[in-house]
Amino acid sequence: KIIVLDFGSQYNQLITRRIREFGVFSELLSHKISAQEIKEMNPKGIIFSGGPNSVYDDNAFKIDPEIFELGIPILGICYGMQLMTQHFGGKVESASKREYGQAFINITSQEALLFQDLPEKQQVWMSHGDLVTEVPAGFEVVATSQDCPIAAMQQLDKKFFAVQFHPEVRHSEYGNDLLRHFAFDICGCKGDWSMGNFIDMEINKIRQIVGDKKVLLALSGGVDSSVVGVLLQKAIGDQLTCIFVDHGLLRKNEADQVMESLGGKFGLNIIKVDAQKRFLDKLQGVSDPEQKRKIIGNEFIYVFDDEAAKLDGIDFLAQGTLYTDVIESGTDTAQVIKSHHNVGGLPEDMQFQLIEPLNTLFKDEVRALGTELGMPDSIVWRQPFPGPGLGIRVLGEVTEDKLEIVRESDAILREEIVKAGLDRDIWQYFTVLPGIRSVGVMGDGRTYDYTIGIRAITSIDGMTADFARIDWDVLQKISVRIVNEVDHVNRIVYDITSKPPATVEWE
Ligand code: XMP
Repeated sequence: KIIVLDFGSQYNQLITRRIREFGVFSELLSHKISAQEIKEMNPKGIIFSGGPNSVYDDNAFKIDPEIFELGIPILGICYGMQLMTQHFGGKVESASKREYGQAFINITSQEALLFQDLPEKQQVWMSHGDLVTEVPAGFEVVATSQDCPIAAMQQLDKKFFAVQFHPEVRHSEYGNDLLRHFAFDICGCKGDWSMGNFIDMEINKIRQIVGDKKVLLALSGGVDSSVVGVLLQKAIGDQLTCIFVDHGLLRKNEADQVMESLGGKFGLNIIKVDAQKRFLDKLQGVSDPEQKRKIIGNEFIYVFDDEAAKLDGIDFLAQGTLYTDVIESGTDTAQVIKSHHNVGGLPEDMQFQLIEPLNTLFKDEVRALGTELGMPDSIVWRQPFPGPGLGIRVLGEVTEDKLEIVRESDAILREEIVKAGLDRDIWQYFTVLPGIRSVGVMGDGRTYDYTIGIRAITSIDGMTADFARIDWDVLQKISVRIVNEVDHVNRIVYDITSKPPATVEWE
């Protein structure tokens, strides 16, 4: 495996990701790790990530200098390059102008191992304030750019390599090839790692941490918490208890599917809480979107608390936190946290340790993991679903009748999108009930009924989105079916706004 030491760059998560894509295990570790600890792990290579600091800052991240003596190949990226330079007596200076964005480098050495067989001139992504102005003794410059004369350097005897740009970012044209050269040609990795290995490793780790203690998991039915549940079940069986709150704002058949699949087939020990009435009562008469969200969020916590309080001797709380959710640098697998900082409000006196087995993975890796665990596509490829559920898709006051209209129309939409083979291309798709009524004609009679809005978007992360260009014929089929099959709907509209200026949800 290759370990990546974390100096706080926003891109460091991408480095491990790229390397795992080669079939080489990689994980991000704190830069505070000692040379001895690294030696025990026996990695084939070490990468120093970039970071926001200058090596001259008072609080600049330092590393155990013995790491350079381990005889393991090292690749320094950006800050990692500057750190290496400083350690070996080269010169790092503040750049006269900060370089950020696209740049072109020229490879200046035939012997540049990282750049073997790659074009002499290539586009890279730069993001730095400091740069190396003098390489340390024994190092040679192997690439330059206009604003950065020392864009890459190497020390072949010791197998130390460094680049000022970010090869892990897609804008670096041949960055992936460079990382591949490092992993395979320089470190000698084989590329035989897979998600299956990850599962074995995580199971061992979880067993070690948990021992014979008990773990609690809030199961939402979403991909992340479901994968965590199945993984933990494999590791510790019935030492895991899941709480699944049915707030009545789930999609059609969703609660049953969760119970059947996760509770039945996968054998998770699930406490299902039927809290539909509790939520609907609280929502009665409330039409302000923000207030609705608050009510649903708080009620969820109360229900969860009530159930958790009935359980004895729980030491751990499991969460489906992803890599992208990890804000703090450093990746300790279990941190002691005050519980209410996570779920949002467990009783004050309850203190859990946190288990987050997915916190090294990206969403698509979690999906691959789920598939490897034998989970069905219906869970693994489930589209994002907001915590407040259908509560924010019935605009204004939420009633059971209106929920029923959204639930039924949404089920038809989903069915047809899957039938059309579009479910993996469209990031999120659902129906909303705006609450307006309009005139229509059905049979020979006049109708005065509800309009249903269809929202379908393409997106990468939900932060920005564009409406999906669904074929007219598919939309027509959906429209006809909803009007015919769902009572009190006589009109269908398609939302063709992007985000921004609109949001994905209507509330
Ligand atoms: P918006 O509507 O903010 O949605 O453009 C962006 C993404 O976030 C989801 N979403 C939520 N998810 N709790 C959640 O867990 C929420 O309150 C919430 N509101 C929106 C939304 O479905 C979309 O994927």
